[in-house]
Amino acid sequence: MFQQLKRLNPDTILGVMAKFRADPAPLKVDLGVGVYRDLTGNTPVLASVRRAEQTVLAAQTTKSYVAAAGREEFNSAVEEMVLGSAHTARRDRRARTVQTPGGCGALRVGAELIRAAAPGVTVHISDPTWGNHTPLLGSSGLRLERYPYYEAAAHQLRFGAMLERLDRAAEGDVVLIHACCHNPTGADLDPAQWQELAQLLTRRRLIPFLDLAYQGFAVDLDADAAGVRLITAQVPEALVAVSFSKNLGLYRERAGALIVIGENETRADAILSHVLQIARSIYSMPPDHGAAIAAHIFANTTLKGEWTLELNLMRTRIADMRGLLAQHLCRATGDASFDFIRTQRGMFSLLGVSVQTVERLRDRHHIYMTPDSRMNLAGIMPHNASYVAESIAAELGSSFSAMPRAGS
Ligand code: LMR
Repeated sequence: MFQQLKRLNPDTILGVMAKFRADPAPLKVDLGVGVYRDLTGNTPVLASVRRAEQTVLAAQTTKSYVAAAGREEFNSAVEEMVLGSAHTARRDRRARTVQTPGGCGALRVGAELIRAAAPGVTVHISDPTWGNHTPLLGSSGLRLERYPYYEAAAHQLRFGAMLERLDRAAEGDVVLIHACCHNPTGADLDPAQWQELAQLLTRRRLIPFLDLAYQGFAVDLDADAAGVRLITAQVPEALVAVSFSKNLGLYRERAGALIVIGENETRADAILSHVLQIARSIYSMPPDHGAAIAAHIFANTTLKGEWTLELNLMRTRIADMRGLLAQHLCRATGDASFDFIRTQRGMFSLLGVSVQTVERLRDRHHIYMTPDSRMNLAGIMPHNASYVAESIAAELGSSFSAMPRAGS
């Protein structure tokens, strides 16, 4: 049976992670997989998470099953954190939230739900998008198409082209939208563009599927959910995939949620029944540990305050490193356009160089990023920023590396 299976290449992002781990060079720099890193390069367990975890473990009396929907208190806290307390869909009881195995679980369950409801629709995904969107959504059998989003060479959003393409989508099609901190570009819509997008989705009767994996990494928890809130307040139906991998640092615990919004309360109940059946048929019930920690933090004012401060620190450190790398790059190359790295948001930016340059950065300088030249800015530290910038300048060619260096 398995003789016909040919060996596959590893997943791109996980492949970079493995190559980095295998490199013995002491000065290696990991700008690959999207995890936060502190100044020592570690991806820490947040102090608020550690404290909540101890309380959760001490209070635990059973490992018995929870439910296909996961923890109720987690689900209601997540719904409020994402949609806000005064959201019309919540007031009208049109929103339903289930805990999922990470944001990936939410995306996959959402895709299966779409396929169950409307197998013929197309899901429109941004070009470029996170490498795992295509397998996660495509393997449910849905048709995927790309809409223009970002021009890497010019470091610019292609908002006009995006609207023009989505305007031609068929009624009932789904549009996958990065809610904030777009992965891999770091380029987000501004408030006026969110408004325009919301109007287009409503007018063209398109269904938004919002992916919120970095809430708190751009501005703060509320501001980063503004696009989700705006759109979901205007359309009759929507899906939101939520991840707590990054903002709570719960990566391996797989804590996420899927929020579905229906036209009315009865429809929302019907949608929920399908979501639960899909969950049961794929993984039965989501893992509990991460969601138990998250729910404990969300319910405890002191812990939530501590977590918010830790989240602010993570965001600020990345923003600082954006500024530092941009400054070093502008100096090392003599090209001021690298300032785009400072102004973009979240963990990632696309450097905008060729696969060959990415490979030379890896092979000659031990600097790791994904082949599309996506950099995780959390891998930049005060001690390696100039090394990374000088290495990039050297690989971009003699015209750049011949430029006078600041301080030299
Ligand atoms: C990333 O984009 O690198 C992260 O979201 C990790 C992953 O699973 O791909």
